[in-house]
Amino acid sequence: MAGKIPQSFIDDLLARINVLDIVESRVKLKRTGKNYSGLCPFHKEKSPSFTVNNEKQFYYCFGCGAGGNALGFIMEHDRLSFPEAVEELAKLAGVEVPRDESRVDHQRELRRKDIFALLEEASDFYQEQLKQHNQKAKAVDYLKGRGLTGKIAALFGIGYAPPGWDNLLKKLTQSDADKPRLEQAGMLIHKEESDRYYDRFRDRIMFPIRDMRGRVIAFGGRVLGDEKPKYLNSPETETFHKSRELYGLYEARKFNQQLNKLIIVEGYMDVVGLAQYGISYAVATLGTATTAQHLERIFKMVDEVIFCFDGDQAGRKAAGRALETTLPVITDGKQARFLFLPDGEDPDSLVRQEGTENFEQRLQEALPLSDFFFRTLGEDADLNSLDGRASFSNQALPMIQLMQPSILQQMMQEKISELTGLSFEQLNSITNLQEATKTPQQATSHNYDYEPAMQYDDYPQPEYDQGSGYYDNDYSGYGNNQQQGGGDFTPKNKGKGNKGKGKYRNKNFRQDKQEFRPPQDLNIRITPASSAISILLHAPHLANGCELSFLANSKRQTELLLYRLVEYLRQTPDATLGMLFVDWESDPELAGYLQTLNEISHLEPIQNTDSAQNVLSDSLQRLQERSIDQQIDELKSLKQRSAEDNQRLNQLLMQQHTSRSGR
Ligand code: UTP
Ligand code: MN
Repeated sequence: MAGKIPQSFIDDLLARINVLDIVESRVKLKRTGKNYSGLCPFHKEKSPSFTVNNEKQFYYCFGCGAGGNALGFIMEHDRLSFPEAVEELAKLAGVEVPRDESRVDHQRELRRKDIFALLEEASDFYQEQLKQHNQKAKAVDYLKGRGLTGKIAALFGIGYAPPGWDNLLKKLTQSDADKPRLEQAGMLIHKEESDRYYDRFRDRIMFPIRDMRGRVIAFGGRVLGDEKPKYLNSPETETFHKSRELYGLYEARKFNQQLNKLIIVEGYMDVVGLAQYGISYAVATLGTATTAQHLERIFKMVDEVIFCFDGDQAGRKAAGRALETTLPVITDGKQARFLFLPDGEDPDSLVRQEGTENFEQRLQEALPLSDFFFRTLGEDADLNSLDGRASFSNQALPMIQLMQPSILQQMMQEKISELTGLSFEQLNSITNLQEATKTPQQATSHNYDYEPAMQYDDYPQPEYDQGSGYYDNDYSGYGNNQQQGGGDFTPKNKGKGNKGKGKYRNKNFRQDKQEFRPPQDLNIRITPASSAISILLHAPHLANGCELSFLANSKRQTELLLYRLVEYLRQTPDATLGMLFVDWESDPELAGYLQTLNEISHLEPIQNTDSAQNVLSDSLQRLQERSIDQQIDELKSLKQRSAEDNQRLNQLLMQQHTSRSGR
C-alpha cells in the first residue's frame, strides 16, 4: 500500500506543470492583459470573474473566492483526493510518484482506507439485502408506503439492514482480528464484559452518508415501525464527524452541474423526498443543529442557503439557533434565508402533498436573514416607547456585533437606527457601554423564545421609512447655513428674467427661531434643485462641471428641470436666458418647465463665483444623496429582490456611506 508522497516531489512537480495548461483543458479562458479569465467552474456566474495568473501560477475567482495552484484546482475541479491529484499531475508530467514508506501516519492512512472500504462493502451489503433478503418485502413495502420510487432509493443507495445480531459481522469479517476494525468503522457494537461484537444496525432502513467525494463514511438507520429510537446514526469515528457532515451534500453536487444554493432540512427523508420531486439541492444535518462548520463548508460551495424549519415551537427555536450560528459566518455576497413550513408538515410530507412548484414557490418566498432577524426581535418590542426601543437595541446590537464587517452588517445597523431613531453614534455608545458592563457571553446570549406562536402569514410587513428624505423639511436650516456661511445673497436684484415678482430676502429667515417663512408671492421652494438652478441661470458656465445623470429619472419636477437645464447649457454654452426661453417654448417637452424656471429666476443670485460654485456643489451633493436614499428605500421596500437588486443596493449603501462620511 502506498505511503506518503514526499513534499520535495510535489514541489518539483508543481514547478514542471503549468497551471494554465491544467485550467485551460477544463475551462474556456480568454486572455485579459497579463491574466486569463473565464466563467468560474466552481460557482454559477454570467460574467467571468475567474482568473488564472500564469506568472504566479495560481487561479482565483473574484466571485466565489476559490483559488489555489494547479494541484488545488485539479482536486476541486475533478473532485480528487490529494494523492489522486498528485498522481494525475504526475501522469501529465510523465513522472512516477515516489512514496515515502517510512512515515508514521502510514498506519493511520491504512486504517482509514480500510474503514472506507469496509463501509462501502457494508453499503453494498445493505442494498443487496433490499433485493434479496427473505424479509425484504417488509422493507420494500415500507419504502413504497412512504412514496419512494425505486429509482430515488437507488440514487441515494438506500438499503436494508436485516433483523439479526450478526448479519454484517458475518459478511465483513473473516476472523476475530477483523472485528475491531469494523467496530472502529462504527458498524459493530462491542460488549466489553463479554468481549462480544454484534451489528449496530438491525432491521432498519439504511441511509449511507457520504463525504464530498462520495465515499461512505457513516449510516443512518430508520426503524420500519414506531419503535424507539426512530433513527440510529453511526457514532463519531475517524471518518465521520457529525458536526461537519451533511447528508445529501455529495448527491446534491452530483445531481447539479452547478450548485448555487442549498436547502438545509432536518431529516434524511426530507432530502430524499425533495430530490424525488426534482428539488435535488437539499442537505440534512445529522441529528444536530446546524454548526458554523456546516455553514462555512456550504458557503464555500454556494452563495445562498435556505434553512427549512417546521412551523412549530421547536422549529422556531431551531431557527433562532440557526440565526445565531449564521450571523458570525455570513460575509458579503452570501445569503441566508429562512423558510417555515405549516405546522405538522416537513419538507418530505409537504412536497408530496403540494408538489414541486408550490414548494419552490415557498422557497422563493423564504425570509431573508435580516427580515427574520428584525421580525423575531421586533415582535415583542414596543418601538413606540423609549424603553421598548432601548431594550430592542440592547438585544439587537450584540448580535449585529457578532457579524463580520460586511454590507449586511451595515444595513442591519442602519435598520436598527431607523427603527429606534437612534443615530450611529448613539448606538455605538450603547454598545460600548454594553461591552464595558457585560461579559462577552452575556453580551451574546439571547433568549429565543418564540412565544406566542404566530402564523407566518401574520408576520408584520417591515415598516421601512417611506418618507421623502430628510431634505424637504429641512430647507430652513440649509438656507440659514448659506446665510451664515458668508452672506453671499445680495439684496440687489440682478435676475435677468425678473418680471418684478417677489424676492428671496433675508427677512424670510427668522434667525432667532431658525425658521423659514416662504415668500408669500412665490410658489417656489428653496430646495437643493431650485438653488442649483438659480445659480446656473446666473453662472451658466458652471454647468460644464455638473454630472447629473442620476436625476434623469427623478420624479420631482424641479430636479428634472435642473437636469434638462444642465443638458441645455452644456450644448448651448452661449445661451442667454432669453434664448433659453425661446428655445424651450418651442419644445413641447421643455415648455412645461418654463413657469418654474421663471419663478426660480427671481431668486437672488450669488455674486461671488467661488461661493456660487460651493453652493452649487453642495446642492448637487445633497441631491445625489437624496437620490441614493430614495433608490435605497425603493429597493428595500421591494417584497423580493433579485441578485442584481441586492448588488445595486449594496453599491448604493456603500455610496451613501462614503458620501455621508465625506461631509
Ligand atoms: P424527524 O423525526 O423529523 O425525521 O427527525 P424525519 O426525517 O421526518 O423522519 P420520518 O419522516 O419519520 O422518517 C429528523 C432527523 O433527526 C434525526 C435524524 O437525522 C432525522 O432524519 N433523528 C431523529 C435522530 O437522529 N434520531 C431520532 O430518533 C430521530
Ligand atoms: Mn418526515
